Amino acid sequence: MANNNAIAVLETGAHFDMERIRADFPILNTKVEGKPLVYLDNAASSQMPQQVIDRLVYYQTAQHANINRAVHYLSEVATDEYEKARQKIQRFVNAREQREIIFTSGTTDSINLVMHGYGRQFIQAGDEIILTTLEHHSNIVPWQMLAKEKGAVIRVVPINDAGELDIESYEKLFNDRTKFVGLIHVSNALGTINPIKRMIDYAHQQDVPVLVDGAQAAPHIAVDMQALDCDFYVFSAHKLCGPTGIGMLYGKASVLEAMQPFKGGGDMIASVTFEETTYADIPHKFEAGTPPIAAAIGFGAAVDYLSSIGMEQIYAHESKLLHYATERISAIKGAKILGTAAQKTAVISFILDGIHPHDIGTILNQDGIAVRTGHHCAQPIMQRFNVPATSRASFAFYNDISEVDALIAGIRNVQNIFL
Ligand code: ALA
Repeated sequence: MANNNAIAVLETGAHFDMERIRADFPILNTKVEGKPLVYLDNAASSQMPQQVIDRLVYYQTAQHANINRAVHYLSEVATDEYEKARQKIQRFVNAREQREIIFTSGTTDSINLVMHGYGRQFIQAGDEIILTTLEHHSNIVPWQMLAKEKGAVIRVVPINDAGELDIESYEKLFNDRTKFVGLIHVSNALGTINPIKRMIDYAHQQDVPVLVDGAQAAPHIAVDMQALDCDFYVFSAHKLCGPTGIGMLYGKASVLEAMQPFKGGGDMIASVTFEETTYADIPHKFEAGTPPIAAAIGFGAAVDYLSSIGMEQIYAHESKLLHYATERISAIKGAKILGTAAQKTAVISFILDGIHPHDIGTILNQDGIAVRTGHHCAQPIMQRFNVPATSRASFAFYNDISEVDALIAGIRNVQNIFL
């Protein structure tokens, strides 16, 4: 049964029309095992509203051709729509210039681009790269590859029992050899929101550039490149109601200009002879080959959709869900939440005494409830908490209070079956 106080709180969101929002997402009508889908795996991938689906269909129906290559009508339309999408992303993240937005295939691709384009050029033997315990594997493995190739060293910022970064230790890790910081904005496994502005400012005082992995932040909180002043910021479209296979790399223009391209090929050149190639200006220098044009345009439609609701409204609604769910799960005997940071997005990783997370996920699925179970591509966090895996419920703005109640009932059902 829903907690009436929590419902009252949720319903006070003045412009947050839950019924209208849910109606935008056709997939939410899915039945699983004959029961309504309760989709709580938004940190892995969020769902797409009809507006974005329609935009993709319209592009494929009436606007498709290759971009930047021809003077014919459709090529000009497609090029124009692709560049308009870039402008929408620029506004969404408040970047100073449109050319600071590079389309990539997603967060992982963006980080690999920076590793190859910046890291291989500017990081040398003996240099140090600071990462944090909260990083997703995608912001660990590329830097390990680079460290191995160059003989560089990785230093790691520890976390406390709540899953918060130890900022004093972070500051102490800097020395003359520190050349790069890779920092997750919001932990995908725990939901911790890191104090990245303070951390970026500190790194810059030491002349060290910072890459922020915003994959779990951009879908939930307003992000502002000019205010953050980071050197790189990356995220994927499919976690913010857009298509898979597309994401973005924000880079400061001066930094991107100094970097080597990662991929060579068509569209990223100014001129080619067998003796020498000169490269195109940014952003095209980093977009070799035919990009996923439809997906980029869908990405633009997705940020339009989120902006039409408002990131502040989204954050406020999800925070209410987080607090309600935290309260209810904490009250279950034998349940423990991992990640209790003071600043969190609506992600709840939990364990149940005596029950394996995969069994929890399987039984919840029989009730139509989708959660992710496993290490969440963040094994160092699991090692820190000494668990092999957790179950993770991750919420989006289209989730409502009755779905938290469904999760609670599902957890009780799992306990009844196993204990
Ligand atoms: N990084 C995604 C997650 O946390 C896939 O589930």
